[in-house]
Amino acid sequence: MRTSLVVANWKMNHTIEETLKFLTRFKKGFVNTSSVEIVICAPYTSLYSLSVAISDIVGIKLGAQNCHWEERGAYTGEVSPQFLRELNCSYVIVGHSERRLLFSETDEMVGKKVGAVLNHGMNPVLCIGETRKNRDEGKTWEVVSEQLAKGLLRVDSLSMEKVVIAYEPVWAIGTGLSATPPMAQEVHKLIRGWIKEEKGEGCAMTSRLLYGGSVSAQNFSSFIKQPDIDGALVGGASLEVDSFRQIVHDARVL
Ligand code: PGA
Repeated sequence: MRTSLVVANWKMNHTIEETLKFLTRFKKGFVNTSSVEIVICAPYTSLYSLSVAISDIVGIKLGAQNCHWEERGAYTGEVSPQFLRELNCSYVIVGHSERRLLFSETDEMVGKKVGAVLNHGMNPVLCIGETRKNRDEGKTWEVVSEQLAKGLLRVDSLSMEKVVIAYEPVWAIGTGLSATPPMAQEVHKLIRGWIKEEKGEGCAMTSRLLYGGSVSAQNFSSFIKQPDIDGALVGGASLEVDSFRQIVHDARVL
């Protein structure tokens, strides 16, 4: 049985003050359950305050949205996985499509980041997904499987249990046009099949696969009912307490 996972990707939103306000409201009435794990990936600037604020709450973990693959050095503006670990980060989003498209991250860089996150004892959330053009040209699986292979190049079967895969069709991110649940399930099933083939059956059974792309309080329950969808990577709907709370609530269905 895989524990459901809901990962909030706040992107470049929420000041420290807003972060703490969100948490105070979210904590009210929050009932922890072992059947769902919650991760909040806040901007770097809020991570320390958030880490302190959630230290007494079981069930909510800290995540970052990116990191460098080196531990330290002359990389102006970058953040080391070692520094994130020091802040008690448990998860790091790697290879988000906004990083790939707006900041020219390649599959090779993404693969190195996945390895570095694992080497520092954290869980990478590897994002993969096709563009509208890829889908229209019938190349969804070609693109997604290449991202998988290169992203997981340094991951052996033993480390695979720490890796989370987020399938996020690029055309669905922030557009309000989510994939349909069967459409997402189709790709998730292929991803699980790929993991079985490349990393072994045990890994395929335990790996958590998230759907992302315009997940909302209204549509999440139909995604989580799909057999190969174990949770969500949530952008816009994770910024508001009420919608995020609803999504977390619905994740308990699994
Ligand atoms: P969205 O973003 O939920 O706002 O579409 C998801 C993501 O980018 O991870």
